Order: sequence, then structure tokens, then C-alpha cells
Amino acid sequence: MDQRAVVTAGTGGIGLETAMGLAARGLAVTVVGRDAERGASAIERITAVATGTAPRFVAADLASLDQVRALAAQLADEGPLTVLVNNVGAMFAQRQQTVDGIEASFAVNHLSPYLLTELLLDQLRAGGPSRIVNVTSGAIKVAKRTFDAVEPPGGYYGFHWYGRAKLANLAYTLYLAERLRGTGITVFAADPGGAATDMTDGTMTSPEIVSPGLRLLWPLVRRTFERSTAGPASVAARPSVLAATDASLDGKTGLLIGPQAHPVPAFRATTDPKVIDNVLRLSRQLAPLHGGPGVQPT
Ligand SMILES: NC(=O)c1ccc[n+]([C@@H]2O[C@H](COP(=O)([O-])OP(=O)(O)OC[C@H]3O[C@@H](n4cnc5c(N)ncnc54)[C@H](OP(=O)(O)O)[C@@H]3O)[C@@H](O)[C@H]2O)c1
Repeated sequence: MDQRAVVTAGTGGIGLETAMGLAARGLAVTVVGRDAERGASAIERITAVATGTAPRFVAADLASLDQVRALAAQLADEGPLTVLVNNVGAMFAQRQQTVDGIEASFAVNHLSPYLLTELLLDQLRAGGPSRIVNVTSGAIKVAKRTFDAVEPPGGYYGFHWYGRAKLANLAYTLYLAERLRGTGITVFAADPGGAATDMTDGTMTSPEIVSPGLRLLWPLVRRTFERSTAGPASVAARPSVLAATDASLDGKTGLLIGPQAHPVPAFRATTDPKVIDNVLRLSRQLAPLHGGPGVQPT
């Protein structure tokens, strides 16, 4: 039987390279993206390296919780799943809300992968031993660690809010690894480091994305951004491919795979019980597994 893998945001950037890596290792890969044309050209590239069943594209806008639910329902109907790579992520220069009325950084970087994962656990159990890989970011280092509400106090700074949403998702990832211990599903986070992709192209050039404190150091900060996002997406995909497939991780769970494609310690805030409790509360309230958008927690 085919070993099925799903890579979200798999039609470009790091996700496409991840999908190619999985297909080259014989997995039957489904890539998810919004744009059908981009999906078609991604499928051509993945097909060229695939050694197993042909890849395919499924359209979904993962900024919409209803579209995440519909995607999960479609994938669930198709049977067991061996690998789920939650690669979708986005940084927004200006504050945005999703169709569900939720701040977009939190929705795309955390709620969407949270919801898709929770809705596919039965299929991952059936496909076990199976792996979940959630793509994280070093931006966590500059994140506010408060999750009393979906938005942190203070002004909107895209890079920091992106990092905070990734922090929420990494805290959830490590919690989930413990929750699923012994079930045949293992859970990893993968930090790609940085790469020149659509997400970084042009978005790291405005001082507005960082807090006033970091703006004072903008020339230095900008140079750091430029250096860290100059590499190819193929290299940045290595941590995800390793986390999804490498035999050296058999029997292990709850590891963060760093940019050099080996395990690194996770940031301390991701194991803070208060952070985990608040992230879970927000996730359950805002992204209920069934039905429309959740209530905005007070
Ligand atoms: N690039 C970096 O330096 C860097 C550093 C650290 C972490 N990361 C993380 O690595 C992951 C991949 O990043 P990347 O730089 O490769 O991003 P990217 O270039 O923006 O990724 C492009 C892919 O994302 C899809 N996509 C974007 N928004 C989507 C949505 N709402 N619903 C469905 N698909 C969507 C695109 O599909 P369409 O074309 O159809 O929109 C395309 O397949 C993210 O989680 C990111 O946070 C990246």
C-alpha cells in the first residue's frame, strides 16, 4: 500500500522542496496550496523526482478554518496517512484579519496547522508508524510570550507577531508529542533557518516589521535578515525532510530539528505550562474541530 504524505503550502518555496524530498523517497505526496496554476507546475517538478506513486495537488486556502476542515474531511476519506508536514506559514507586514475575523499571523501559523493535525489524527494512527512535522522559525526568539488573548498587548510588528504565532505552534507541537507518545504517531518541529522565498522576498526590507527597540538597530537587523534569508529553499527543506523520513528518528518524538538538520534544544518558553495552557485554550476556542469559527476568547 502507498505511504501517503501531505505537505501544506507545498507548491512553492520550502514546502515544494520538502514535497520533492518526500516524493524522491517513494512517498505518495499531496501538496496543498491556493493557486491551481502554481499547483500544476509544482506537480511537474515533483513528478520529475518521484520514485513512487504520482503526486497530486489539492487546493485550499489555509487562512480559512472552514477550508482547513474541508481539506481534512477530503484527506480523511482517502484513508491512512504516514506523514503530515504542516509547512504553511506567513508573515504579514500590516495587521490583517482572516475571513474568520482572527488576526492572520496567529490563524495561518498556528490555528490552521493545529486544526488540520487534530482532524487527521485517526488517519495518522491508522497509517502508523507515522510522523507529524510542524515547521517553526527562529523568529520565536523575539516573540512576546503572553497568550492571555489571541493578540499580544502593544503595537503590531509583523516579525514579532509571526514569531509569537510560531511559538504557540511549537509549544503545541511539543505538548502533542507527549500526548501521542505510544500511539505510533511521532511529532517533530523543523526549523528551516532561512531561505529566499516568496515569504521573505521584499517583506524583510521595512523597519515597520520590527519593534521600535529593534528599529534603532535597523541597519544591523536588516543585514541579519538579508544574510539569513539568502540561501536556497532546497537547503532549508532538509530539516523537514529529515524529520519526516529519517530512520535515525525512529522511536523518537518531541524533537526540534534545527537548520543544520540535527536535533537542537527547544526555546524554554515552549515548555512553560502557562504558555501551553493558554495556547490550548485559545486554539480550542478559536478553532473548534467541527462547525464554524469559534468564539473570540475574552
Ligand atoms: N523562508 C524563510 O526564510 C523561513 C524562515 C523560517 C521559517 N520559515 C517557515 O517555513 C515555511 C515555508 O516558508 P516559505 O518561505 O517557503 O513560504 P512561501 O514562500 O510563502 O511559501 C509558498 C507556498 O505557500 C503557499 N501558501 C501561502 N499562503 C497559503 C495559504 N493561506 N493557504 C495555502 N497555501 C498557502 C503558497 O501557495 P499559493 O502560491 O497557492 O499561495 C506556496 O505553496 C513557513 O512555515 C515559514 O514560516 C521560512
